[in-house]
Amino acid sequence: MKALDLKNGDCKELIKKIPDKSVDLILTDPPYNIARYSTGNIKFDWRSDINNDIAEWDEVPLKPADFVESFKRVLKPTGNAFVFTSYNMVGEWHKAFDDEFDTFQFMAWHKTNPVPNFMKTSFLNSVELIVCFWNKGHTWNFINQAKMHNFIESSICGGGERLKDPKHPAQKPVKVLEHIVKIASNDGDVVFDPFMGVGSTGVAARGLNRRFVGFELDFEYFQAAKKRLSEQLIKVV
Ligand SMILES: C[S@@+](CC[C@H](N)C(=O)[O-])C[C@H]1O[C@@H](n2cnc3c(N)ncnc32)[C@H](O)[C@@H]1O
Repeated sequence: MKALDLKNGDCKELIKKIPDKSVDLILTDPPYNIARYSTGNIKFDWRSDINNDIAEWDEVPLKPADFVESFKRVLKPTGNAFVFTSYNMVGEWHKAFDDEFDTFQFMAWHKTNPVPNFMKTSFLNSVELIVCFWNKGHTWNFINQAKMHNFIESSICGGGERLKDPKHPAQKPVKVLEHIVKIASNDGDVVFDPFMGVGSTGVAARGLNRRFVGFELDFEYFQAAKKRLSEQLIKVV
């Protein structure tokens, strides 16, 4: 497999071209299907709107069960899978994958600067869930007891890291992705993200000298990922 292989299209079709047992780590962030819970943007007179809208791509129903066969087929026996998801989808991921792998666990990413809750009538949405599954003999770089809690803390993606054009509403911080890549894969391994958005998983993987295969349906996001990753390659070389 190439060091970098990016494709624009529907991952359900594109995944068919990935050879059996060729992927070391699936690290992905599929749509959460939370559009129906959104109350829209929060408007202010004194500052710009807080983006609470969910993108159109989130409205297309995603069925975790549709990915069982293809994920099992492409993963090496030593492989791992980590999937960002939301409270409304955890049960579906568990139902589809728990019986298919030896171990099914989850991690929590605590966002230190979540969107404030101006109404003060519920919790801030400061935690994102990541389900993970693997078989016996999987690659596992255990750092130490203190650093192997199923919990990571970081700010949301911002500052210079956040792409301005196009703006992706779900861009993930590279720091969180790097943590997972380090634990669940080795130098030169193949990391695969079928829903890569603007390519954050690829940035983490390539920065740590892994190979990367990424698919994205939206052409604008795909182009942004391609640009971001080619600029990163120039920097690394
Ligand atoms: C939650 S976002 C991923 C964001 C990414 N982690 C990042 O940091 O940029 C999910 C992405 O999946 C893409 N997507 C949705 N359905 C897809 C499909 N069938 N095949 C490939 N990509 C798809 C969406 O366009 C969206 O960019």
